[in-house]
Amino acid sequence: MALSRRAFAAAAAASLGGGLLAVSGLRRLLAPGAAAGPIGTPGPPSAGDPTGTVREYALRAAPIEWDAGLGGTTRAWAYNGRIAGPELRVREGETLRVVLTNGLPEPTTIHWHGVPVPFGMDGVPDLTQPAVPPGATYVYEFTARAPGTYWYHTHFGYQLDRGLYGALIVEPRQEHLAYDREFTLVIDDWLADPEHPSPDPDATGMAGMMGGMGGMSGMGGMMGGMGGMMGGSKGSHLTGAPRVQPRYDALIINGASSRTPPELSVRRGDRVRLRLVNAASAQPVAVQAMGHDMQVTHADGQPIRPVTAGVVVLGMGERLDVLVEARTPGIWPIVAFAAGGLRATALLRYEGVRGTTPEPIPDQPDARSALSYEALEALEPLPVRDPDQQHAIELSGGMMDATQWTMNGRRYPDTTPITVHPGERVRLRLSNMSMMPHPMHLHGHFLQLVGLEDRMRPRPALKDTVTLGHMGAVTVDVVADNPGAHWLFHCHNLYHMMAGMATELRYA
Ligand code: C2O
Ligand code: CU
Repeated sequence: MALSRRAFAAAAAASLGGGLLAVSGLRRLLAPGAAAGPIGTPGPPSAGDPTGTVREYALRAAPIEWDAGLGGTTRAWAYNGRIAGPELRVREGETLRVVLTNGLPEPTTIHWHGVPVPFGMDGVPDLTQPAVPPGATYVYEFTARAPGTYWYHTHFGYQLDRGLYGALIVEPRQEHLAYDREFTLVIDDWLADPEHPSPDPDATGMAGMMGGMGGMSGMGGMMGGMGGMMGGSKGSHLTGAPRVQPRYDALIINGASSRTPPELSVRRGDRVRLRLVNAASAQPVAVQAMGHDMQVTHADGQPIRPVTAGVVVLGMGERLDVLVEARTPGIWPIVAFAAGGLRATALLRYEGVRGTTPEPIPDQPDARSALSYEALEALEPLPVRDPDQQHAIELSGGMMDATQWTMNGRRYPDTTPITVHPGERVRLRLSNMSMMPHPMHLHGHFLQLVGLEDRMRPRPALKDTVTLGHMGAVTVDVVADNPGAHWLFHCHNLYHMMAGMATELRYA
């Protein structure tokens, strides 16, 4: 039986947040932690010197009719006429130049998720640039210094939920992984009719609780819907006019639902690299490669000590690179699972295998073998020292109204900004007091995952998005190494961000 949306999201995020992944949502009680590690000089994982080479791409954002294989087309918005948008590739040290043309009926911008770009290139309308008006062109240009799997997406209003995203790969000068083939799988939650989304009744904590108290979940849905209608009056790109997150019709991988799955052709004996990107607006996903284990090598593009997992979970905005050894010939589904029984597949097809029938797809991922944040350790540990400032941020909302999402009880832009001086190390303890998971993303900087549930970690992994499950707590360090006026720090649930779960990192 499929889990409810909220239960799935909570369970998925529990595994991310460091607790035991239990489909029931139970969490392991964890011992309190020790002190921080030794002192040292922080820095990005790789500071590729500019090579002088410029790699230029043109992206045109425009409406399209897209067939995701659901038996009809969707009025979507996309880059260069496809979903996902084109994969952009650049080598470490090269300059990426993207000429964006806006063919949409409203303004737009592009954000380079996870890439520590200069402030003016960050693509947040009003904060880092004026939005690009319809018909206009805008040039983004920055040197790609930190290799890894990233992605790009619009940062204007609810546009992300219409399809404006794509993968961005910064190839290292020296690859430390040996592999034969690679594929990028961009996973998204899909609305068949993005112009008329219906609210998801599981989008509030209250809805789930009431469901549990005697089948009153319809009530929660109603309240959610009312919340949507009663939302803020003034609409801006980031605040105002909050909405309840919609009920999704499908999960898609590289623009296709499981009815028309993308095929990954491999030979027996290949080491296959998969770059997994969760581009969904509101759904954490669990990914399982049937018949194969995955060796996870990178989290949010940054190398980790390789760790084997049967299932990996990605909050919205997160990426994982995994290696799969092709040793069991067949046609194997790689399945992405989300709440409410949503599934998408890609097919790992061994060359020479006859037949067309893939191996069966389970209803649910095998939760026992899921990777948790506990397993994430940096491949090359960065120095950690005591922070110059510490802040606690409590995430909450959604209890009575699915359009009220807060950081320390306030909604953006009324949240308290984090003010830093260049070179400082800031420690943020994030805790999630709500029923929904929150993938927290900081622009322009990496997050060092120094603590889980208040236990300090020995080799903190470097990420840019960390997901907290219900009652989860994580501690992250930010090194203030990229001056800028307003770096956004927000939940990557698009609907939570738009409803106020955001703040800014500001350089004094
Ligand atoms: Cu993918 Cu503001 O971010
Ligand atoms: Cu959130």
